[in-house]
Amino acid sequence: MDSINWSELSFGYMPTDYNVRCTYKDGQWGEIEETTDSTITLHMAATCLHYGQEAFEGLKAFRGKDGKIRIFRIEENAKRLQATSDGIMMAKLPIEKFEEAVKRVVKLNERFVPPYESGASLYIRPLLIGTSAQVGVKPSNEYLFMIFVTPVGPYFKGGFQTTPVVILRQFDRAAPLGTGTFKVGGNYAASLVAGEKAHSMGYSSVLYLDAKEKKYVDECGPANFFGIKQNTYVTPESTSILPSITNKSLMQLAKDMGMTVERRQIPEEELGTFEEAGQCGTAAVISPISRIDDVDQNKSYVISKDGTPGPISRKLYEHLRAIQYGDEPDTHGWVTVL
Ligand code: PLP
Ligand code: COI
Repeated sequence: MDSINWSELSFGYMPTDYNVRCTYKDGQWGEIEETTDSTITLHMAATCLHYGQEAFEGLKAFRGKDGKIRIFRIEENAKRLQATSDGIMMAKLPIEKFEEAVKRVVKLNERFVPPYESGASLYIRPLLIGTSAQVGVKPSNEYLFMIFVTPVGPYFKGGFQTTPVVILRQFDRAAPLGTGTFKVGGNYAASLVAGEKAHSMGYSSVLYLDAKEKKYVDECGPANFFGIKQNTYVTPESTSILPSITNKSLMQLAKDMGMTVERRQIPEEELGTFEEAGQCGTAAVISPISRIDDVDQNKSYVISKDGTPGPISRKLYEHLRAIQYGDEPDTHGWVTVL
């Protein structure tokens, strides 16, 4: 433990003490179990392996100046897992069970919640998989829900700094009426080639356009997109993006700050009009965007001329972090104090 350099953590996996599990069998969820085993035994014909019955979530716990641990918006993640479960025909975990499991696994791994000063946090990764054997394409009868936790630093190197993103028109992440709104592993598999290509070209993420018309902004590989202009927070309305809980929170904070909030289609050309733009998500928090290149069309939209994050993005970032770490009052009831 003494060897963990909390402030140098990146967004990676580090073993912790316990994970928790809960199984669904004969139409019922069992009790939450604790284990130190980080492996699972799985039938080779399990539906998660063949037909992608797999969903995950991501949320974070923070240690405050007062030493207390705060978990951000557990209920929202519980609800989104239910929506995803409906989307790919998996058994739905009750909200209360999700909440209990999250609290339990954080408590059990309390010593891995990074200290306040480090700016790091404990990433909580719930996972739901279909486990029963099927050969025909149909849903599983049995499911395994698990949560592991791991201490993390910033998802994008450098934390709150601008990075460029890229539009790669030969790739789609999700179909307009496909699984984009659900947090299923398949969406991430579909984004790997484009993501690696973007990284090798020096971009932090791919900014996907809508798959049908390639006209409107969808989202980034691991995060939602927002733009800011004329005191307005603008974020895409789309049938193929993940409803980000961070984005939802930022929309509320923007309103609290007296800004107008618009959720609507964003035509690509509008990118050039934003005074600020960013990627937002649990892992990304807010990652300000310096420039968006549409490399296939030889277009470039410069957001930050001097490469520094804009003042409103910074304010939103600081406000969100302050609520998460308990430095500011939690007026919206987003935080669960352990
Ligand atoms: N979009 C995608 C594709 C993501 O993977 C994530 C991460 O969870 C987000 C958006 C942000 O969602 P949230 O703010 O709920 O973490
Ligand atoms: C998150 O922000 O929680 C994510 O899941 C993004 C990425 C790590 C997949």
